[in-house]
Amino acid sequence: MMVRFMDWGMKNRLSRIIKPSTGRSLVLPIDHGYFQGPTRRLENPWRTVKPLLPYLDALMLTRGILRSSIDPQIEAPIILRVSGGTSIIGPALSDEAITTSVVEALRLNASAVAFSIYVGTEHEHQTLTSLAHLVDECEDYGIPVLAVTAVGRELEKREARYLALSCRIAAELGARFVKTYYCEGFEKVVEGCPVPVLIAGGPKMDTELEALETAYNAIQAGAVGVVMGRNIWQSDHPVAMIRAVRAVVHEGATPKEAHDLFTSLKTGEP
Ligand code: R5P
Repeated sequence: MMVRFMDWGMKNRLSRIIKPSTGRSLVLPIDHGYFQGPTRRLENPWRTVKPLLPYLDALMLTRGILRSSIDPQIEAPIILRVSGGTSIIGPALSDEAITTSVVEALRLNASAVAFSIYVGTEHEHQTLTSLAHLVDECEDYGIPVLAVTAVGRELEKREARYLALSCRIAAELGARFVKTYYCEGFEKVVEGCPVPVLIAGGPKMDTELEALETAYNAIQAGAVGVVMGRNIWQSDHPVAMIRAVRAVVHEGATPKEAHDLFTSLKTGEP
């Protein structure tokens, strides 16, 4: 009989993503194409990612973009998105299923896999039981599962009661860490979730300062980091922006300090 506990492989993979030196993580997601197609400024993923590689802790993407577009010699650990099967023009974004096997995740040397759940939708049961099934398989191989509390087009769902419910359910089903959204009263979301919580950035905000404030507020409220994509690579100055976000996540910079850094760095960018 197999005895399960947080074994060496699981700990090692998680520590490649959530850095032990600060207990924090800056994940750069470029998986948006799995349902959005060629998202603005992600049309050529390698061109977008290459200059950002020195500043990220992990890269989140699908196997197709990993194989086709990413240099296998990169050092960054990979969080492999393994759910999908929907598109922005289809009937229901919540109708996701497992799209990539655990063997494929091992073959690609993934440090974690990411799976979306859609609590409160018609596909709640399907996505939650698939998450549990994925956790069962991944635990056998020491691969942490990142649950993504997805809201689809219903961005108004991003409030504490709903997100706390979704994050807790994800943890109860065995997710080793959770990605959700920042919201007012975010402390309650973190408090009710016994595994590390990271926030997504969401759609590009009007200013870099707003995104830095969101990251800062989330960290202050107990998030271990950010999985921030569009607010970094859709910025006109993505390198300056990721460095500013990094200062917030790993160095405790305030939004103003980080924004000052962004302003000083952006002048040196092409
Ligand atoms: C979206 O469906 C993807 O899972 C993204 O990884 C996630 O939303 C985080 O990216 P962003 O900061 O652009 O919202």
